[in-house]
Amino acid sequence: MKLEFRDLTVRFGSQIVLDHFTDTIEAKALAIIGPSGGGKSTLLRVLGGLLQANDGTFALNGQWIESKEHTLSEYRKQIGFVFQSNGLFPHLSALDNITLPLIHTFMMDKAAAKEKALYLLRKFGLEDSSHKFPAQLSGGQQQRIAIIRAIAIEPKLLLLDEPTSALDPELSHEVLTMLKELVQSGVELVIVTHHLGFASNACDTVMYMDEFGIGEIGKTDVVLRQPKTERLQRFISKILSI
Ligand SMILES: Nc1ncnc2c1ncn2[C@@H]1O[C@H](COP(=O)(O)OP(=O)(O)O)[C@@H](O)[C@H]1O
Ligand SMILES: [Mg+2]
Repeated sequence: MKLEFRDLTVRFGSQIVLDHFTDTIEAKALAIIGPSGGGKSTLLRVLGGLLQANDGTFALNGQWIESKEHTLSEYRKQIGFVFQSNGLFPHLSALDNITLPLIHTFMMDKAAAKEKALYLLRKFGLEDSSHKFPAQLSGGQQQRIAIIRAIAIEPKLLLLDEPTSALDPELSHEVLTMLKELVQSGVELVIVTHHLGFASNACDTVMYMDEFGIGEIGKTDVVLRQPKTERLQRFISKILSI
């Protein structure tokens, strides 16, 4: 993916979360790290067309996205989202959760949508879950179903906001392993995560942001192994010390 940001500014009242952010990032998998309250989710919501910036604009793969509701709602259809809480419909089976957007947003034929969902469930070893409801699945399985739902639409970009933060370590591991496989198979993603190990192993690019703005962006090895700023050095040692 190529992300271009031009003067991107987001304010909440007098609080400035993004201040004329201007940069170009080319990455296959971008990890956004940083302390809570630093604006990671805000940036992800702007990137997904869920939040209009107050000023400035951005482009995905050369397509500039106007901050107008009509443009954003068309753009949103091309983006896959996975949030901390999986957002699956509790009254629908795993299979129906995956086929719903295919049928209703992408007007896919029901049989074709089902075939596609079953193919993906099999591919990720979740075929036994297809007829189960979310409450009958583990948190890790639920999140993997949510990821399948997001990629089934073949999004231009997959956005994930702390997809494992509600899971215990073992379940986090199964979700992160799936995401790593996706990256290796060519799915491009932006993920907000506290797992520096995952960022380091699966993502080629890392962005650090905190309440003072976007601190560092660059190739993973450089940003995580040779952080330039003291605030990133402190953040990394804090995370690694627990
Ligand atoms: N809808 C909103 N209204 C008011 N303030 C918000 C809103 N969303 C986020 N903020 C504020 O913007 C800052 C960045 O939040 P967020 O993007 O959620 O950070 P992070 O994801 O890094 O924890 C925080 O101080 C938060 O309180
Ligand atoms: Mg957040």
